[in-house]
Amino acid sequence: MIDLPAHRLAGKRAFIPGAAGGLGAAMARLFARHGARVFLTDIDGDGARAQAAAINTEHGTTVAWAAAQNVREEAPWPQLLEQAAQTVGGLSVLVNNAGIDALGGVENLGTKDWQRVMGVNVEAVYFGCKYALPWLKQNQPGAIINLSSMAAYKVDPDYTVYNASKAAVASLSKSVAIDYARQRLAIRCNSIHPAFIRTGIVEPFFQQLGEEGEAIRKLTRGNPMRRLGEPDDMAYAALYLASDESRFVTAAELRVDGVGGVMRALRTRIKTLDSGVRRNDEPMSDPVSGKPPLRLAVHPPTRHPGGSQQPNGWSSRDPVTFKLHKITRPPCPSSTASSVSRPAPKAWSNAAISTSSKKPFPDSRTAKS
Ligand SMILES: NC(=O)c1ccc[n+]([C@@H]2O[C@H](COP(=O)([O-])OP(=O)(O)OC[C@H]3O[C@@H](n4cnc5c(N)ncnc54)[C@H](O)[C@@H]3O)[C@@H](O)[C@H]2O)c1
Repeated sequence: MIDLPAHRLAGKRAFIPGAAGGLGAAMARLFARHGARVFLTDIDGDGARAQAAAINTEHGTTVAWAAAQNVREEAPWPQLLEQAAQTVGGLSVLVNNAGIDALGGVENLGTKDWQRVMGVNVEAVYFGCKYALPWLKQNQPGAIINLSSMAAYKVDPDYTVYNASKAAVASLSKSVAIDYARQRLAIRCNSIHPAFIRTGIVEPFFQQLGEEGEAIRKLTRGNPMRRLGEPDDMAYAALYLASDESRFVTAAELRVDGVGGVMRALRTRIKTLDSGVRRNDEPMSDPVSGKPPLRLAVHPPTRHPGGSQQPNGWSSRDPVTFKLHKITRPPCPSSTASSVSRPAPKAWSNAAISTSSKKPFPDSRTAKS
């Protein structure tokens, strides 16, 4: 049993880019309350300095420092980290928090926007890890915390580059984690995956979705807690990952999302089945007889042993075996779960559906050959 000290980060020295507001500022505040010395940076240098000043006022002494930084620019990173280390007395925690987004699908997203978002959200995380690691090695145990998102798992429409960038952050974090664990160094790397929190990055959604109640309703759809996250929800997650309480936690993807990641997929699937909306892996009608749609009672899906377990319980990339408990089409002599052997129409011919007897649905292409 570990006794949690009041100052869970006593002796820690944290470098937090993107700390002029939102989650970064909340983390800096909480880290300082728990005994850490914090160095805040942001492209909005004045904003970062204002946050540091507020922290110092709260503590009545200097525990926070700040500087302007554009995380996209590689050259200043080493010098800034050295400045921070000298100021706060070494570095043991890096929080790669700065992040931006851009709307657009692949065709209408400008290449410059793609590069800008990937530059801040991914390349800068790589810079941060690369140049902070020598300092973390000198100040073990060390921790890197990278801000990913639930968008790493559940892609939102018209959010191409953000979705891709946050998936990259999750993967990059695990890569760092494994490499340093293998070196037997006490340096851990984890990613945090927040759901929606009302900060600067989400504000445009409120403008687009209009009236506040409606915006919250839409942004929390599928979340049984029916609320947005708060910056402190993420700050407490980061506090745990920065502290030695999480000393055996590395390469973890910490979802802080009010169960939303699980619920949304479940609701979507129920809705899909009940409304008769055709899913691309669900046969809707008998192609030979033209009989009414074959409705599958498919709860719960079973993953193939090799399939990855996604937090939302569903990924179209995963092969899934459906157990056909029941077929609700009007009975006909051959309509049992194990006798579904009609040739499939081309539209769903290559669907990855298997029966409970593990026989794959017939594929019209293989049937021909
Ligand atoms: N708020 C959410 O709903 C949410 C959800 C999932 C993930 N996240 C992630 O959390 C992190 C923090 O976001 P937030 O919610 O606090 O948003 P925010 O917009 O309030 O904060 C982001 C900060 O990053 C700074 N920044 C932007 N570009 C920068 C650059 N080039 N160099 C240095 N600083 C730069 C901004 O000035 C801002 O202070 C981001 O990585 C974001 O993607 C947020």
